[in-house]
Amino acid sequence: MRVDARMTRRAWVWIALACAVAVTPARAVANGEPPPSPVALALVAQMTLDEKLAMVHGTFDPDPTQGEAGYLPGVPRLGVPPLRLTDGPAGVRVLTPTTAMPAPISLAASFSRTNALYYGAVLGRDARARNQDVLLGPMMNLVRVPQAGRNFETLGEDPFLMSELVGPELGAIQRQGTIATAKHFAENNQEADRQSVDVNVDEQTLHEMELPAFQAAIDAGAGAVMCAYNKVNGTYSCSNATLLTDILRDQWGFGGFVMSDWIATHAATDLTAGLDLSMPGYGQPFFDADLRAAIAAGTIPEAALDHAVARILTVLERLGLLAASPPPRPTIDVLADAQVARRVAEDGAVLLRNERGVLPLDAGAIGSLAVIGPTARSLLVGGGGSAHVVGFTEREQSPLDALIEQAGSGASIRFAVGDDLDGVVVAGEVLTPEGGAPGDHGLLRTTSGGATQVDPTVDFTGAAALTGPPGTSWTWTGSIIAPASGDYDLRLQATGGGAPDSSDPFTLIPVASMSVDGTPIASMTVFLGLNMSLIRTADGLTNAGTVLHLEAGQPHAISITGNAGDTPLSIRLAWITPELRQARFDEAVALARSSHTAVVFAYNEGSEGVDRTSLALPGPQDELIAAVAAANPRTIVVLNTGDPVTMPWAGDVAGILEMWYPGQEGGGATASVLLGTAEPGGRLPETFPVSEDDPPTAASPERYPGVDGEEQYSEGIFVGYRWYDAQDIAPLFPFGHGLSYARFSYSGLSVRPGLDGGLDVSFVVSNTGQRAGAAVPQVYLGAGEAPAGVQMARRALVGFARLELPPGDARLVPVHVGRQQLSYWSPAQHSWVVASGERSIDVGASSRDLRLHTDVTISLTTTTTTTTLPAGCADAVTLAAVACRLDGLRDRVDALVPEGKIRTKLDAKLNAAKAKIGKAVGLVGQGKTKPAGKAVQRALGAVRGFRGRVRSKGAGKVIAPDAVTTLVGAADRLLGDLATLRRETV
Ligand code: BGC
Repeated sequence: MRVDARMTRRAWVWIALACAVAVTPARAVANGEPPPSPVALALVAQMTLDEKLAMVHGTFDPDPTQGEAGYLPGVPRLGVPPLRLTDGPAGVRVLTPTTAMPAPISLAASFSRTNALYYGAVLGRDARARNQDVLLGPMMNLVRVPQAGRNFETLGEDPFLMSELVGPELGAIQRQGTIATAKHFAENNQEADRQSVDVNVDEQTLHEMELPAFQAAIDAGAGAVMCAYNKVNGTYSCSNATLLTDILRDQWGFGGFVMSDWIATHAATDLTAGLDLSMPGYGQPFFDADLRAAIAAGTIPEAALDHAVARILTVLERLGLLAASPPPRPTIDVLADAQVARRVAEDGAVLLRNERGVLPLDAGAIGSLAVIGPTARSLLVGGGGSAHVVGFTEREQSPLDALIEQAGSGASIRFAVGDDLDGVVVAGEVLTPEGGAPGDHGLLRTTSGGATQVDPTVDFTGAAALTGPPGTSWTWTGSIIAPASGDYDLRLQATGGGAPDSSDPFTLIPVASMSVDGTPIASMTVFLGLNMSLIRTADGLTNAGTVLHLEAGQPHAISITGNAGDTPLSIRLAWITPELRQARFDEAVALARSSHTAVVFAYNEGSEGVDRTSLALPGPQDELIAAVAAANPRTIVVLNTGDPVTMPWAGDVAGILEMWYPGQEGGGATASVLLGTAEPGGRLPETFPVSEDDPPTAASPERYPGVDGEEQYSEGIFVGYRWYDAQDIAPLFPFGHGLSYARFSYSGLSVRPGLDGGLDVSFVVSNTGQRAGAAVPQVYLGAGEAPAGVQMARRALVGFARLELPPGDARLVPVHVGRQQLSYWSPAQHSWVVASGERSIDVGASSRDLRLHTDVTISLTTTTTTTTLPAGCADAVTLAAVACRLDGLRDRVDALVPEGKIRTKLDAKLNAAKAKIGKAVGLVGQGKTKPAGKAVQRALGAVRGFRGRVRSKGAGKVIAPDAVTTLVGAADRLLGDLATLRRETV
């Protein structure tokens, strides 16, 4: 038996859509806000004004050991529990460990709705296990600016992909009893001036690019939405009635509550714009004293406050949090969560380049392997800022250790750091204690009690770590003198110590800090710090610091402070001198030269609060990779980045694997993908440009970062791959790209009108390679006709699937393209309108690797439907062609048989036949021809049943006589084909 390998060239599907159906009413009030629950309303009626005000702004958690981002006291006398709100999108961020998941961008790269579901379940369960009630995630702002600090925290550049993932993720969070928060509503697409910048965006762009994922979140039942810091079209997001009331409530029917981003509330009147909860609440008068005063003055009705409280309580009730016995808090299932984290990291791994099959590593490579780069030795778990998670550090295994473990005894794996971030302890000879005489060395240590001593170096780690009662601090002072002029990377390295500040539970006493000549250059808390790296030292210390140019012999004042905490404080002063930097570089290149294969790990450090200043890899990494590649033609680069980087060396290396920030299980996942025990299952959820000048936001400062506080989204809908297509710019690696260790072919494209006015697309994917692999076929829709001024992308993602296929297997892939995907947002009608005309459908392995093509003509003006069979399935007697002809027959049934009982029965018969054919495709792929034959036999039975039913109506009672002849003729043809296929399998 054969599977059709031909490509469908052209199909004409006339889809008749009466205008009345195609165009939703102007200024659609689709749903309207549902009323609060009766229980919520009854509770509000019993609350005092004070109690109601306490429900709409946060305060301190009386328990400082939790460390979450926000707290509401509830109203205990009425059974309303306190509410704890915690970040975030990559795992639960409290002071105790929780599962550090791969960065959300890795989840996006998996193109897997199933992974999104498991990912959400981990977040929701871990949150409840850690006494939390509201998770501040997922983040669903589109990647518009490729260097934006929080790109790792969101789900890529395509609104459809993002929408498909947030629904399952968010639903899963909430099924665990944790309220999910869709954030940041809206257009928080960069960190530069995020608290003030005014995003000027046209209506079509807003609705088509940024909003779909938020709407998907609302459709999935999101309990909460967080409004953003920035302004949108002149008004702060949290004061923006267009966003918070017109769109969110009136159009989308959101019945949950809106909370502000942290200190993003601007006035008491934000309440009437649609904001319900001001966070973190303390220190800001708006939803406290100001609101009380406004209610007293009658400028804000108390009913508005009541409504806000009722919305919050409605969500609590919906998730069972108001119940007399709320769902019990689980414990974290560390191992089960770890399995999900590992799976997501592997499924999100994107193999960008693989020349001469350099990956997976073969025996020769493992027998002499150079591993280079700091993130090989210290796992880069996640990005920085509020999404940073204190993971189960004992589970973290570096990629290097994982490679050594997984490669087994025959391997020879050697490491060189190349780009040294740890350096060496600053020796006493270059330090002079404060008040010391010439020739004295070291630094003066002053303990908080006043005791002093001179320490030769600051190097108190392991058994020498410092302990003291809470409140104890140690300060080292003196000066540092460089032996030669040059750039010195000064590093403060510490762990342990530090604590929440008992006078302010939301402030963390730093673990340690350092200044040079009075200027702070490093500090660290459990979460955040100054110049604090996401990459720990080889011995697990947090590493902070910066490069300073020091002149030989010139003394510079240095001051270092460490604070005691619950665990001993390890603290060290280190540096990377110019000589050391060069030596490490040379060692790595020499190691690569003397090895069979070299794997270089490269990184960037994405973080909330700051955008990257360049798309280049930081530090000397580009030079290092180029030098290693020149020394060894079998050089592979593993990227730990949160978003695109430029790769001037891309053509010179044999392999490139993007692992993102892979979470606490990322070391094992990286090793498995390199060794080929796991498939690199990911595809790019964002375009990687060749040059800094290529992205849409590179074109002008008005677009990014904005001028005089105003930012123009003048690229319109042309974000990400839509821009590169429109401008004919070849990306370095396009959206959707990712290689597999298997090989896939595509065939048998079929498109027919869907019952909802969308399209039913199907095709066959075959694994023609030697090993199992994950295929991610993507369906792209071309531009249609639209009035002047309406923007249309050359192609847009409208469907995708993810399937694991054994070698030789093939599967029929059905993809439904919803009606909204055929539509543009009409600024004239303020609603979605289907774009008519001839539109291309392409199926492929990336936005630039399109394998199957057909054209679809969508007509809005006629009420008759005419469908012509796609040429590709008109003659061949193959499973794919028969599947295609079955679709054609269904089209004819659509056109010829009116709705009713008979139609339902006929549809069911044809659906059954199609399902059996799909099964047969899979079985043939596995070489199981006999069972495949049985499946074909069943399809035959279903088509016979179809023909029988058509005939029994042949008197013309329900189906017109002509139509009976047509349908029976087509069924006979299919029966003949199926009989042939059946014979071939015996
Ligand atoms: C971030 C939010 C986060 C909040 C609480 C803000 O700075 O923008 O994403 O949820 O802090 O930590």
